[in-house]
Amino acid sequence: MSRVLAVAGRELIIREDHRLDSEAGCVVWDAGLCLVYYLDHAASLVAGKRVIELGCGPGAVGCTAAALGAESVVLTDLPHLLPLVRSNIEANPLGGVATAAALAWGDPVGHLQPPFDLVLASDVLYQAEALPLFVQTLAALSSPRTLTVLCNEHRPALPFPWQLFRAAGFEVRQVPLSEQHPEWSSEDIHLFHIRLACNTSDGGDS
Ligand SMILES: C[S@@+](CC[C@H](N)C(=O)[O-])C[C@H]1O[C@@H](n2cnc3c(N)ncnc32)[C@H](O)[C@@H]1O
Repeated sequence: MSRVLAVAGRELIIREDHRLDSEAGCVVWDAGLCLVYYLDHAASLVAGKRVIELGCGPGAVGCTAAALGAESVVLTDLPHLLPLVRSNIEANPLGGVATAAALAWGDPVGHLQPPFDLVLASDVLYQAEALPLFVQTLAALSSPRTLTVLCNEHRPALPFPWQLFRAAGFEVRQVPLSEQHPEWSSEDIHLFHIRLACNTSDGGDS
């Protein structure tokens, strides 16, 4: 099955792979769709930026960032998902801006040449044991000028780990529904802007 996403004034085709049915990363999740359309709604966050996506699954969010004028986008996930990610990058005219790379959270990131301007992630907080590794990777990819936009389904059994982010030096702001896409947003899907706390010099959180 393929999804057709209307973003950046055109259509992106994102193929899902149901042969990988046991894999969370084989389909585009609702939080991914909300992040796709949030970025389309707030394209200035992306244009001209060096971007990395964590836990990209089929790659809808990263391909959207490339279509919205990012300088470069690295879509990352576990190694076995990269063929699907690469096929979606190749299926869309993204001008060579997007590439795929393996990255398991907690692993070294030096080869990706951090820091990035913008880190994107959707529906990646769903396993308690992975949360510290995810936050560790985010810290390794960030400078005080890095913005992370994270969109995650609200799971009552796994509340958002505010304390983990704060302990790693991050400030987290939950973006109100009024600032999100009017249709592609939901009370059950939470969107966050995350920055290292020492970043006070560039005019705030936009
Ligand atoms: C629920 S899926 C979300 C996929 C996509 N971001 C979306 O919203 O459609 C979670 C993704 O996180 C990836 N993931 C889970 N644990 C990971 C880890 N430890 N390191 C890297 N990626 C991981 C999975 O492979 C999967 O692609």
